[in-house]
Amino acid sequence: MSVQRVLFRGLVKEIPSTTYATHGLYMYPAKFIPQVVRYVVNKYSPPGSWLFDPFAGYGTVAIEASLTGRNAVLWDLNPMLHLLVKASTYNKPVSLRNLAVDFNHGDPFHPRWDSISYWHPKEFYDVLSRAWGYWHREVDRELKPLVAIPLLKVTRYFSYSDEKIAKLYKSKYAVEKVKTLLSGDWRRRMEKMYWEHVKVVVEKVKEYQAYGPKPVELVIKASDEEVFTERRVIVDSIRERLDREVDVLITSPPYLQAQEYIRSFKLELAWLGFTGDFIRESSRHEIPYNGVREGYISSTTYKLLKKEVLRLGHDKLLELYVSYFNSIALFFNNNHERVRDTIAFFVGPVKIRTLRVPIDTIIKEHLEHMGWGHEATLVDTIVARRIFKTEKNPATGLEDERTPTEHLLIMRRAA
Ligand SMILES: C[S@@+](CC[C@H](N)C(=O)[O-])C[C@H]1O[C@@H](n2cnc3c(N)ncnc32)[C@H](O)[C@@H]1O
Repeated sequence: MSVQRVLFRGLVKEIPSTTYATHGLYMYPAKFIPQVVRYVVNKYSPPGSWLFDPFAGYGTVAIEASLTGRNAVLWDLNPMLHLLVKASTYNKPVSLRNLAVDFNHGDPFHPRWDSISYWHPKEFYDVLSRAWGYWHREVDRELKPLVAIPLLKVTRYFSYSDEKIAKLYKSKYAVEKVKTLLSGDWRRRMEKMYWEHVKVVVEKVKEYQAYGPKPVELVIKASDEEVFTERRVIVDSIRERLDREVDVLITSPPYLQAQEYIRSFKLELAWLGFTGDFIRESSRHEIPYNGVREGYISSTTYKLLKKEVLRLGHDKLLELYVSYFNSIALFFNNNHERVRDTIAFFVGPVKIRTLRVPIDTIIKEHLEHMGWGHEATLVDTIVARRIFKTEKNPATGLEDERTPTEHLLIMRRAA
């Protein structure tokens, strides 16, 4: 078995930093680093071929695909994918003036989510609802994703959420922040901050454009409630089926005790127009909190470790373990036949209490069972990442472990 120790950041020379071009427009927990995607693209996917990321998140694969002239199919449960891909691959002239927002707009927008008043003091809410009223009713459809980025950043800052933590969380610090803001000229500060973020967006989009993106096809399939498309749909990648062939599947799925993505983005989703019901319903599909049962995975390591997990005597952990691997396996069972050439799967080995769970080995065994051959596993030690920095995992009530290493599993269709 080929295991290679590498530095993911140094895998390709042509990428200057992890946030170059539009890679860092908005926070997204456990994002790919673009070097990993570029490495796989350079090595396994000829120009013009099709990439596929079923857990596309921020859309790192979309940016890399467009910059290298590959097409991509991108799926995610989180509706943010629509917005983030459109903003980060925007390829028309853009100027500060295009992105103006009227913070006094006469027709305010009110989120259809009961908890909204928990997150903003009334003073901030009134102004934000006017700015969002402008976004919903006046901003050009094409520009909406770009305008949303700075507006969402301001909305998060002018709330009781702790903007230093990806998860939506009302911390002591955040309550203090709001108090201090309210005692000063917060109204001016809000607009000033908006323009500062607009400037960054314009600079980053121009930087992206300077890299010469190619005219490729990016097919986005993400949940929606008639905000970005005409449809109300929940996209659960484990139940979806590819309707075309692709060449390379490259993805970084949720980790075992993963961040709850929909929960983290509730405030954003509510202001963008998603209802509380939709937010609740979509979060029930999230891996590994979706209650998927045994029956889909074929792996000896999975079976052996399951016995160890059983011995821990913690039902919730066992349920997470089972749903996690069976969700990922079900996704592969439904879709692997339409992948022509390579599967590149990026994960960290996770710990459940004291047990190390080698996700990549379990997935490797499952794919081997389906006829795929192991090409290589690349291993890196994480240097500085914001994964699992939070205190307790809400699903298990246990401390989250920092993931010590990350693995890139590469499988190829056996000849
Ligand atoms: C580690 S993140 C992917 C990050 C992505 N590689 C990037 O660079 O931005 C995992 C993603 O899986 C998504 N996810 C979780 N459960 C899902 C499901 N059942 N169907 C589709 N996507 C799901 C989450 O919304 C999240 O965006």
